[in-house]
Amino acid sequence: ETIYLKDYKPFSYTVQQVDLLFRLAANATRVISKIAFAPNPQAEDQAENRRFFLHGEGLKPISLKIDGTPVTPREVPGGIELDAPDAPFTFEAEVEIDPAANTALEGLYMSNGMYCTQCEAEGFRKITYYPDRPDVLAPFDVRIESDLPVLLSNGNPGTSGPGFAEWSDPWPKPAYLFALVAGDLIAHPDTFTTRSGNTVDLNVWVRPGDEGKCAFAMESLKKSMRWDEEVYGREYDLNTFNIVAVDDFNMGAMENKGLNIFNSSAVLASSETSTDANFERIEAIIAHEYFHNWTGNRITCRDWFQLCLKEGLTVFRDAQFTADQRSEPVKRITDVIDLRGRQFREDNGPLAHPVRPDSFVEINNFYTATIYEKGAELIGMLKRLVGDEGYAKALDLYFTRHDGEACTIEDWLTVFEEATGRDLGQFKRWYEQAGTPRLSFTESFNNGTYTLTFKQQTPPTPGQPNKDPRVIPIAVGLLNPNGDEVQPTTMLEMTEAEQSFTFDGLATKPIPSVLRGFSAPVILEHESDTQTRAFLLAHDTDPFNRWQAGRDLAQESLLTMLRDGAGPDNAYLDALLSLLRDDTQDPAFRALALGLPGQDDIAQTLADQGQTPDPQAIWEAFETLKHARAEAFQDVATRLYAQYQVTAPYSPDAEQSGARALANAAMGMINRLDGGALAQKQFDSADNMTQQLAALSALIAVGKGDAAVARFYDQWQADRLVIDKWFSVQITGARPDEAADVAQRLTQHPDFTMKNPNRFRATLGALAMHPAGFHHASGKGYALLADNLIALDPLNPQTTARMCTSFQTWRRYDADRQALIKAQLERLLATPDLSRDTTEMVSRILG
Ligand code: ARG
Ligand code: ZN
Repeated sequence: ETIYLKDYKPFSYTVQQVDLLFRLAANATRVISKIAFAPNPQAEDQAENRRFFLHGEGLKPISLKIDGTPVTPREVPGGIELDAPDAPFTFEAEVEIDPAANTALEGLYMSNGMYCTQCEAEGFRKITYYPDRPDVLAPFDVRIESDLPVLLSNGNPGTSGPGFAEWSDPWPKPAYLFALVAGDLIAHPDTFTTRSGNTVDLNVWVRPGDEGKCAFAMESLKKSMRWDEEVYGREYDLNTFNIVAVDDFNMGAMENKGLNIFNSSAVLASSETSTDANFERIEAIIAHEYFHNWTGNRITCRDWFQLCLKEGLTVFRDAQFTADQRSEPVKRITDVIDLRGRQFREDNGPLAHPVRPDSFVEINNFYTATIYEKGAELIGMLKRLVGDEGYAKALDLYFTRHDGEACTIEDWLTVFEEATGRDLGQFKRWYEQAGTPRLSFTESFNNGTYTLTFKQQTPPTPGQPNKDPRVIPIAVGLLNPNGDEVQPTTMLEMTEAEQSFTFDGLATKPIPSVLRGFSAPVILEHESDTQTRAFLLAHDTDPFNRWQAGRDLAQESLLTMLRDGAGPDNAYLDALLSLLRDDTQDPAFRALALGLPGQDDIAQTLADQGQTPDPQAIWEAFETLKHARAEAFQDVATRLYAQYQVTAPYSPDAEQSGARALANAAMGMINRLDGGALAQKQFDSADNMTQQLAALSALIAVGKGDAAVARFYDQWQADRLVIDKWFSVQITGARPDEAADVAQRLTQHPDFTMKNPNRFRATLGALAMHPAGFHHASGKGYALLADNLIALDPLNPQTTARMCTSFQTWRRYDADRQALIKAQLERLLATPDLSRDTTEMVSRILG
């Protein structure tokens, strides 16, 4: 049952008001609803044959009434159909559901004795009968009856007393933004005064014992609220804003109106238990969910094909926020690393799909890097093309024109066209055509005129054999050979398959710095010599491209090692060494420059060049290179390690995290030569997780981790989030031939559970992130993952389907590995009663 964008039809009725009563009981919760419907004037063509269909899944109906008269529904796929008047009427239903048995974590479920909900995308239909689609908006009034002390829902609090609480949400919303929480929870409270003077009560709700880990999330929330007022002119619109931490959660977090629900890993933070990276992620996710209040909730999506309308824009907004709080270049570089690692990989294989897909089977399978991260890149390109002022004008128009509506990408592009007078017809292809464009260029120099000639080409993707040229904003700067910039960054606008741009009045042939700031999500294919790259690493004024030059050098060195059996490239080592020695350079930037491309990125590059990657050989090349760097950088590593120890009290800010990142990178190098002595010292004395975990991982890497692994467990066994790290680090740090065995052993550990997605990901996900371990020639990695996916699917289809993506690159490998993976995929697909989620995913991967 594939659903197509072209088949969109408005719902035949509108909803005027929703009243819900929940009588909570673990195995038999009663949901009593009263919903006011009226014929939808926007669906008058359907008046003849008005169909009253309501979604419903796994509900036990107790009674259904229309205008007070009991009615018997017709069961139809996905819900019920009723005979309803062609005039306003009231529909009432009482249904029974079983939250304690809900392991899919979709709808109303229980997590450690707490009731919570996850309704996006289509979970509300597991709570009661309803038109569960994003274009049906209504105000909700909710009454919760339970003996649990804390009872929460959307909107503003109403009356409450022993055993009950009432909530009222005045802002019309689709059902996917509904939420309910009930439990024995503790609040970390605060308040925020909006720009126009309203005081908002803020709370972060957690289980007893976690109240000491809320302060950072609260600070992040207040910063986000202020930032959205200052940068986008958006104010909060209720008296209360609640955030709840839940241990069992399929994704990061959810933007339910006034009641955001978070995976506890995306809220709880303390310096002892969270790394600097955890802090940064928490700050970003708090901001992301808060920003959805306008981009997602006040303006929502007409249908799920438009998901990128809210997700791409909100990811873009949270990235702007992080860049403002921390370092803009560091944020850009880490986002591009992530985009290449996850989205390019998706765009390159069987799961490639447009940022706005035109069909799907299970929408949960489309919460992807393409829709989120590439979707955000499209917003960034739009902003580059129309300029900051044009962007601000277009956004103002979007908020005033579409407030309270369920919108489309067409609506979004139209506000840009009207605000800026630009035709975005060609730009729209970015939303419609999948695949990553390959951009290449050649240069010529003649009588002071420098010409750059670009070519673009996008390879076919499933269902889309031919691609049209895109509009590509290419940020370019020119340097002269002594290192001065002779042309500051200018935005070239490429619209043709092949196009030239000229620069006049140059005394000498310049060195180009192309695609500055990663101005478009493309693969820049350009053969360049080591000397030019080293020059750019030393002199480019664009920090992104300086970092890119270093990465290109590392990649070239690795590729040559793999192709020709050569040793590490000395020019790369020399260039990196001068950068490391240069204390005028931001430590965070130097730490990033020390990073290497992912082993999976190298595998993809080889595959792109028509070669078959060998994961074991790639792992060995990385080891050789890392060892060579450790030897070449011995002195500087020792100095940097000492110099960048932080003596001030711990703070997760950009400056301290940068220092710790560089010191840890230095420790990682020293570790290869001193057999773990320094790492052991750091492990023994660390008072924060960033240093403790880095030391543990270093000890494991040199085979000296046993004692530390045991001690770490003893110290942290009561903390689920830290124990997730304990599971992961043992697997990601294992030697390739042992990684699957370590993962297999850990699935037998008493603390392993299929029911907690974080723990499942920390174990099986960690294995999949160890390319040489996962792709071990024996096939044991594949078999272990498939065994566990088969076991997980009946419990939690969403997380199962998502983890299947670990197999998506299978066609790039040798015939033996392909056969091994194919056999596992076929075994998965042949599993009786396999979920729709996993069936769709595996079928697409098999192609
Ligand atoms: N809208 C959420 C976000 O902030 C993601 C929720 C997705 N949930 C799901 N089950 N697919 O990105
Ligand atoms: Zn989101």
